[in-house]
Amino acid sequence: MINLGIIGTGMISRNFVTTAEKTNEFKLTAVYSRTEERAKEFGEPFGAQNFFTDLNKFFESEVFSTVYIASPNDLHFQQVKQAILNHKNVIVEKPAFSNPNEMKQIITLLQAHPEVCFFEAARTIHEPSFAAIKEKLGTMKTIQGTSLTYQKYSSRYDAFLEGKNPNIFTLKHSAGALQDLGVYLVYDAVGWFGVPEEVHYFPVKLENGIDGSGIAILKYPHFQVELNIGKTSNSYLPSEIYGLKDTIVMDNAADLNEVKWVDDQRNAHPIGQLMENHLISEIKDFAKIINDPNKDLNRQLRKQWLQLAIQVNRVLYELRLSAGIRFDADELK
Ligand SMILES: NC(=O)c1ccc[n+]([C@@H]2O[C@H](COP(=O)([O-])OP(=O)(O)OC[C@H]3O[C@@H](n4cnc5c(N)ncnc54)[C@H](OP(=O)(O)O)[C@@H]3O)[C@@H](O)[C@H]2O)c1
Repeated sequence: MINLGIIGTGMISRNFVTTAEKTNEFKLTAVYSRTEERAKEFGEPFGAQNFFTDLNKFFESEVFSTVYIASPNDLHFQQVKQAILNHKNVIVEKPAFSNPNEMKQIITLLQAHPEVCFFEAARTIHEPSFAAIKEKLGTMKTIQGTSLTYQKYSSRYDAFLEGKNPNIFTLKHSAGALQDLGVYLVYDAVGWFGVPEEVHYFPVKLENGIDGSGIAILKYPHFQVELNIGKTSNSYLPSEIYGLKDTIVMDNAADLNEVKWVDDQRNAHPIGQLMENHLISEIKDFAKIINDPNKDLNRQLRKQWLQLAIQVNRVLYELRLSAGIRFDADELK
C-alpha cells in the first residue's frame, strides 16, 4: 500500500483520492491545507489522521511516501522542489510547471534524487484509447491535418464575470485556457505526432490579460494541428485526425470517450476503450511504477513520460510567448 499525502483540497483532489483508494494501491494518510479545519474536513472521511498547515512539517513527516499536488499552477514548482528534497515521490497535476526554466530546475533536482518517482498527472496519455489512436496512426497512409477541440465553460467564469478574481483566470497563478485545457490537446498532439516545428496562439484575452479562449496552430512538416480551446463557452464539436480518405473521430480530445476510425468507405470502426473514470488509468500506472521503480520497463516508461512532459511544457511556453502572455512566474528566477 502506498501512503499518500496531498496538497490541495479541491474537487480534483477528492476525485483523485477516491479513485486512488478504489484501486487498493493508495491510502490517504496526510493532508496539507492552509487551514486545519479544511484539512480535517477533507481527510477524515478517508480515514486520514495527519493534518498539516505548515508545509515544512508536512514534507518532513514520515507518514507518507508519495505526494499528490493539486494546488494552483504557480505553486507546483516550489512544492515539487520541496517534495523531491524530502525524498517523496511526486504526482503533480497538469500543467506541472509554469515555464521551461522551472522544468529545467526540477530535472536537475531529479537527477540528483534518482530515488524519487516523478509524474505529471496528464491523465489522457494513460488512457487505453490514447495508445489505440497512436497505433491506428501508424497504419494510416498519410496524415493531412488534425483539429482538436476542448471548450468547457468554467464554473469559475461566473465569479470572474461578477468581478471576482478566481485563480484559474489569473496570470499570477499561471492559468488561463491554454494552460488549463490546452495542455490536454498539446499532450495529444506531441504524444501522437512529436514536437511541432512552429507554433502560434491566437487568444481571446479577458480584461486582465488572461486567455479565456483561443485557437492554436502547431505546424508539422506536412500538416497542421489546430487546437480550439476555451473556458468561457461550451463546444460539442468532435475532434478529428485526417488521413487520406480515412479519419479518426473523437467525441472529446481530452476525455477520449468514443473514438472511431472511419474508413474510406465511410464505415465507422470503434477503437480504444470507453473508460467511465478518466483518472483510473493514470493512477494504476503511477502505482505500478512506484511499486517497482527499477524494473526495466518501468524505468523506460518514467523516462518516456518525463520527456513528453518536458516537450509539452516547452510547446505551451512557446505558444504563450507567441501571444504575448507573460505569467508572474516567468519573472522569478
Ligand atoms: N486532472 C484533472 O482532471 C484536473 C481537473 C481540475 C484541476 N486540475 C488541476 O489541479 C490543480 C488544482 O486545480 P483546482 O481547480 O482545484 O485549483 P484551486 O481550486 O484554485 O486550488 C486548489 C487548492 O489549492 C489551495 N489554494 C487555493 N488558492 C490558493 C492560494 N492562493 N494559495 C495557496 N493555496 C491555494 C486550496 O486548498 P486549501 O484551501 O485547502 O489550502 C484549494 O482547494 C491545477 O493544477 C489544475 O490544473 C486537474
